[in-house]
Amino acid sequence: MNLRHLGRTEMMITPIGLGCWQFSKQNNLAGKYWPNLADEIIARIVSLSLEGGVNWFDTAEAYGNGASEKALSGALQKAGKMPGEVLIATKWMPVYRFARNIPKTIDARIKALAPYPIDLYQIHNPWSFSSEKNEMSAMDGLLEKKLIKNIGVSNFSAQKMKSAWDTLDKKGIPLASNQVRYNLLDRRIESNGVMEMAKKLGISIIAYSPLAQGLVTGKFHDNPELLKKIGFRKYTPQFKSGGLKKSQPLVILVKELALKYNVTPSQVALNWLIHFHGDTVVAIPGATLEIHAKENVGAMSFRLSDEDMERLDKVSAEFK
Ligand SMILES: NC(=O)c1ccc[n+]([C@@H]2O[C@H](COP(=O)([O-])OP(=O)(O)OC[C@H]3O[C@@H](n4cnc5c(N)ncnc54)[C@H](OP(=O)(O)O)[C@@H]3O)[C@@H](O)[C@H]2O)c1
Repeated sequence: MNLRHLGRTEMMITPIGLGCWQFSKQNNLAGKYWPNLADEIIARIVSLSLEGGVNWFDTAEAYGNGASEKALSGALQKAGKMPGEVLIATKWMPVYRFARNIPKTIDARIKALAPYPIDLYQIHNPWSFSSEKNEMSAMDGLLEKKLIKNIGVSNFSAQKMKSAWDTLDKKGIPLASNQVRYNLLDRRIESNGVMEMAKKLGISIIAYSPLAQGLVTGKFHDNPELLKKIGFRKYTPQFKSGGLKKSQPLVILVKELALKYNVTPSQVALNWLIHFHGDTVVAIPGATLEIHAKENVGAMSFRLSDEDMERLDKVSAEFK
């Protein structure tokens, strides 16, 4: 399996990781977004991801107040993985908090993920009471104590990402990544400066919602009845009839290419993400079913031609 550096760090990851928001057990408001998955299903999703070559997992404090971190650790132990054999990314929740909360809550994160260490610690979003400079200093404190291995941010604008990068760079530490929403139906980071700045500074983009929460696979276009069975997603514009109409041409092309390469639409969409910008973008699809995990890891087993990637680029250009 081809491994990539995360940013300019020594952390070597597969282009596809597993997003673990889905393991929140409906434990808090964010956790209610997805069904309450049984431990057995979570264990199967994790084990199928590992079998498919995935070597890293993205979770967060906010995903069920630690429920996702605990479920992930349990599933990895069940799969017989020793600490150090897999890589873990988690996040600190900044909302209504100051940077000084970062060292105060790290023990809870370490406990929830035990025995697995934190390879990447990310600021979940830019909405705290502290500046990104103070947040980076607090994260650096954790690095010095060897409580975390690398530092990332999430949902940061180009300007805030640069400011975080500057703070760390003064100490010779690379800012590893910015985790942002990025998929064929949402390409705003290509027009708001985030992608350009990430490339310039050597920061990896971790694409969250890489399947536009299932939309890009065309399953909701094919079977609108499915929309009745999903939770919060159905209230977002993309999932309403106008949104479905807008994404239809892209979905048609994704399905056409899936037939051409004998793969699934999800694999086409993920393959485009992890190759179109060279090594800059890695993706963390989430899974609620075993089949999702199996399909999504398969996105690493083929490569769309440059010509087909250009076709997807053109048809999805309106989403920039
Ligand atoms: N940093 C942040 O602010 C942030 C925000 C959001 C997410 N994330 C991270 O990114 C990860 C992924 O994002 P996401 O969960 O929002 O979106 P996503 O990965 O685009 O979509 C995941 C959902 O799509 C459906 N799906 C997955 N694979 C599929 C397949 N092969 N075929 C058909 N449907 C499939 C499943 O839902 P259904 O079966 O119910 O349709 C699944 O729960 C999360 O787990 C989390 O780790 C981070």
